[in-house]
Amino acid sequence: MFGIKSSKPVVGLDIGSHGIKAVELNIRHKAGRDAYSVARIGYQPLPHEAIVEGQIIDAPAVAEAIRSVCDKAKISNKDVAVSISGNSVIIKKISLPAMGSDELAESIIWEAKHNIPYPYEETNVDYVVLKSHGEASAGTEILLVAVKKEKVAAFANLIGQARKNLVAIEVDAFALANALEINYPEEVAEQTVALVNMGATVTTIVISDRGTPQLFRDLSLGGSLFIESLRKDLNVGLEEAEALLRGRPSKTVEAFQVDAVLSMNTRSLIDEVEKTFSFFQAEDKRENRIERILLGGGLANLRTISAAFEQKFSVKTTLFDPFRRVHYNEKKLTSEYYQEMAPFFGVATGLATRQREK
Ligand SMILES: Nc1ncnc2c1ncn2[C@@H]1O[C@H](COP(=O)(O)OP(=O)(O)OP(=O)(O)O)[C@@H](O)[C@H]1O
Ligand SMILES: [Mg+2]
Repeated sequence: MFGIKSSKPVVGLDIGSHGIKAVELNIRHKAGRDAYSVARIGYQPLPHEAIVEGQIIDAPAVAEAIRSVCDKAKISNKDVAVSISGNSVIIKKISLPAMGSDELAESIIWEAKHNIPYPYEETNVDYVVLKSHGEASAGTEILLVAVKKEKVAAFANLIGQARKNLVAIEVDAFALANALEINYPEEVAEQTVALVNMGATVTTIVISDRGTPQLFRDLSLGGSLFIESLRKDLNVGLEEAEALLRGRPSKTVEAFQVDAVLSMNTRSLIDEVEKTFSFFQAEDKRENRIERILLGGGLANLRTISAAFEQKFSVKTTLFDPFRRVHYNEKKLTSEYYQEMAPFFGVATGLATRQREK
């Protein structure tokens, strides 16, 4: 997206507000398909409030965490791809009549100026052509992506401080769409699939309909809201709230109290997700309903959340596994990341697939 396309391997670096995830893949072209395997992988939690609402508050601490995650995972490749999410990213779908590439580039600029609520000069704009369903004469559907330049600059500075080379900036939603396509090819080709990636402060929704990603959305929701509620309602500290969210037993509060707070928060998160699902289904009077839900991000590890989604939407819901079609050697790599933390790595894995591009 916003960067030099690279044919060399890149490290997918997902700088979340709760923790940094790093993935490096080996990609081999076998029998007309790409075969992926994880070469190196790492996770490093971030100090509380080092990143707040997508803003890098404590850049030295985040840069140190980036260096540390790479050192611990023995990642020597300095070329990294990062992604941006939340309200500094704007993704808009537009329809344009069929036209040549020069004309298209001009139209994109015009559309960007009219569709993006920030001055055009202050934003980096890029676009992706969606596979069109109809005939060529019916025109093209384009995803317009805009990120504020100051946001891109902040990430570039950060990566410089961490002494890495920034080769690409993506948006979380597109990285997730990559990871979805690679790992669930049959489901993506045949069904309408919703991937809901629930992090600490951002929940990203990607809906793919019969092989084409049709909707990308970031909601300002995630595990941090659950933690705040636990702290306030049960009068516990940050560490204890984090432990309660992870299902650890407590000496100070009763399990039923914890369950009540968690289910209330789960309900409000699902209600917001439902609004996005309804928007998708209403758009273009779509006939296909969501047939499969995949849950990723750290919050997907909340034990009751899959069942809550399944109950609400009456749709098969499972954890999103970014290593489903990516070979993971548990003997060589940290097996915890494979067994317990796989849902955390969707964005980083999607970013690491960029090395395919030339
Ligand atoms: N076992 C668990 N059960 C429930 N929630 C968990 C568990 N482990 C981690 N979490 C929560 O998941 C969130 C972190 O997930 P993730 O790493 O995907 O977020 P992030 O990418 O750092 O954040 P951002 O939203 O800024 O992108 C935190 O809110 C954390 O409390
Ligand atoms: Mg995240």
